[in-house]
Amino acid sequence: MEQLKGLILSGGKGTRLRPITHTSAKQLVPVANKPVLFYGIESLAAAGIKEVGIIIAPETGGEIREAAGDGSQFGVAITYIEQDEPRGLAHAVLTAEPFLGDSPFVMYLGDNLLRDGISDLVDAFRESEPDALILLTQVPDPSEFGVAELDGERVVRLVEKPKDPPSDLALVGVYMFGPAVFDAARAIDPSWRDELEITDAIQWLIDSGKRVESRLVRGWWKDTGHLEDMLEANRLVLEDIERRIDGELVDSRVEGRVVVEQGARLERSLIRGPAVIGSGSTIADSYIGPYTSIAPKVTVSGSEIEHSILLSGSRVTDLAARMEASLLGRNATLARGDGLPKTLRLIVGDNSEIAIP
Ligand code: DAU
Repeated sequence: MEQLKGLILSGGKGTRLRPITHTSAKQLVPVANKPVLFYGIESLAAAGIKEVGIIIAPETGGEIREAAGDGSQFGVAITYIEQDEPRGLAHAVLTAEPFLGDSPFVMYLGDNLLRDGISDLVDAFRESEPDALILLTQVPDPSEFGVAELDGERVVRLVEKPKDPPSDLALVGVYMFGPAVFDAARAIDPSWRDELEITDAIQWLIDSGKRVESRLVRGWWKDTGHLEDMLEANRLVLEDIERRIDGELVDSRVEGRVVVEQGARLERSLIRGPAVIGSGSTIADSYIGPYTSIAPKVTVSGSEIEHSILLSGSRVTDLAARMEASLLGRNATLARGDGLPKTLRLIVGDNSEIAIP
């Protein structure tokens, strides 16, 4: 098989992660202090792919370019492809046709995370050279995803977000295609959500007698489109980190698997892993509990935080209750006011969610 290309989809609107995604691409939200998108690029690189196209949206493309650059940090060459509107995954494939040409390719949704990478699955694709190879995994809530119906190993039907799912096998956001997918994407009509669905394009391949194979994914898989999934992905990635303390500890205790980056400072605090504390962050008189990722340049004082993601430049001060299962945006401030009357004074962005004890 000729050299495979990679295509990462990092366009879209990210409506389910607002307000974070009002100002920033959802694929750049960090999981264990690394943007979700980078896990995808690394998986493609590890599978031996050298040329990667990244679909970007006009609004968030700039910061994606800035973060991933020319790809040399990952050992790949990146080409950016602008999709003017998020008109569906199959529309993104058509937008990338000039870049992909006749090459077989691996399409990776930029908000997906697979624990064990994709190398063995890409090898299976190289070996059997089908028109499409899809990855499936069992999920408790199939109606949130594309769902496959199998007859033995053969894929017979695919449905996008069905109300009445024919199985519990969800389509994982990694697909491998030969060039027949372009004909499929051109042949289908937009769906009820007015998108050209990749699920329909694959169904078209099946109906046209093309060879569509499937493989089950071992290890965990997460689509980080919702806050709960993002926190869950953060938890799963942190489960695998190794302890490394490079920052400065003053009267502080660090228990278990914790990374404290160089330039971070802990004062009179307890960190109970798994957790990461980014460089330039200061944690004072605080407790940071399991499954928490603290990005660089964050300040936490007089507070308790667990199972949360804090983005860079955020500040948390003197909270009366423990903060948990939360995502704090860049430069966001969460503080208890001094004095009386005891009031809440907030500047809350559109679509924010705040629960107060
Ligand atoms: O995560 C797996 C699921 O991904 C599959 O089970 C579904 O079959 C598949 O349709 C897809 O569903 P989502 O509704 O979760 O896709 P979403 O709109 O979140 O888009 C996935 C990624 O692709 C995301 O990083 C944004 C990007 N995207 C999306 C669209 C619609 C684009 O780059 N361009 C687009 O036009």
